[in-house]
Amino acid sequence: MLFENQIAVVTGAGRGIGQEIARAFAEGGAKVVLISRSEGSCGAAAEEINKSFPDSCVSYAVDVADHEAVQALAKRIGDEVGAVNILVNNAGVTRDGLLMRMKEGDWDSVVDTNLKGAFNTVKAFMRPLMKGENSRIINIASVIGLIGNAGQANYSASKAGLIGFTKAVARELAGRAVTCNAIAPGFITTDMTDELPENVKEAVIGKIPLASFGKTEDIAKTVTFLASPAARYITGQVIAVDGGMTM
Ligand SMILES: NC(=O)c1ccc[n+]([C@@H]2O[C@H](COP(=O)([O-])OP(=O)(O)OC[C@H]3O[C@@H](n4cnc5c(N)ncnc54)[C@H](OP(=O)(O)O)[C@@H]3O)[C@@H](O)[C@H]2O)c1
Repeated sequence: MLFENQIAVVTGAGRGIGQEIARAFAEGGAKVVLISRSEGSCGAAAEEINKSFPDSCVSYAVDVADHEAVQALAKRIGDEVGAVNILVNNAGVTRDGLLMRMKEGDWDSVVDTNLKGAFNTVKAFMRPLMKGENSRIINIASVIGLIGNAGQANYSASKAGLIGFTKAVARELAGRAVTCNAIAPGFITTDMTDELPENVKEAVIGKIPLASFGKTEDIAKTVTFLASPAARYITGQVIAVDGGMTM
């Protein structure tokens, strides 16, 4: 199997895109570490995947924005699971609002989770990633980090920052054969997009050449491709999976 004897960490894996990514790695034979904010969420997701792929998943709750807690968790994962060689930074939040009304807390929580969270995990898992053979870092950004969006200054900045971070990490770790790439999903059906009012959803679909929202599987399949040996020569890239929205 493609990911046999590999250990993949997926943040934000309690539901949505992250849970689908975790499932795809489990299907490929990896040991998968699911991380989310609450144990209830990642624990239930791991249990669900283990029904199809027994003993493939374990779960840990942490706030990825908490630097110290993430460092401590990485050590625990190293001791309890083993050396991680695939890291997927998928945890993300939105706190939308026009800049005029956006509070400092709305900015901080989004940037701290979406951008600093990736800094925290890459720092925490850097040693095993560098020691492993053909390790991978995959960051889940967003088309909003490429084109911006009114009402999402915090989210756009965090995802654009994540893309810059991806390229810098790709350059720093290339010498150790660690690749680092970003995926920029368009609108994908999850809890995050379910929150959008129907008229907004219709307006968005009108701007997507393939005329529908994407599925979580569309992102998971791109992640497993980037993590596979077939993608060994791809690094520092941003792959938009967006139905043609940003072409
Ligand atoms: N859905 C889309 O259309 C879309 C488009 C572009 C990009 N994205 C990006 O794709 C990623 C996943 O999106 P989604 O739609 O699947 O989101 P979602 O359904 O809202 O799930 C988000 C996951 O992230 C976890 N999380 C949030 N804050 C966290 C924190 N501080 N520490 C640890 N875990 C945290 C949540 O944990 P709990 O389960 O414990 O709450 C949850 O498991 C995000 O980065 C998002 O920005 C999504």
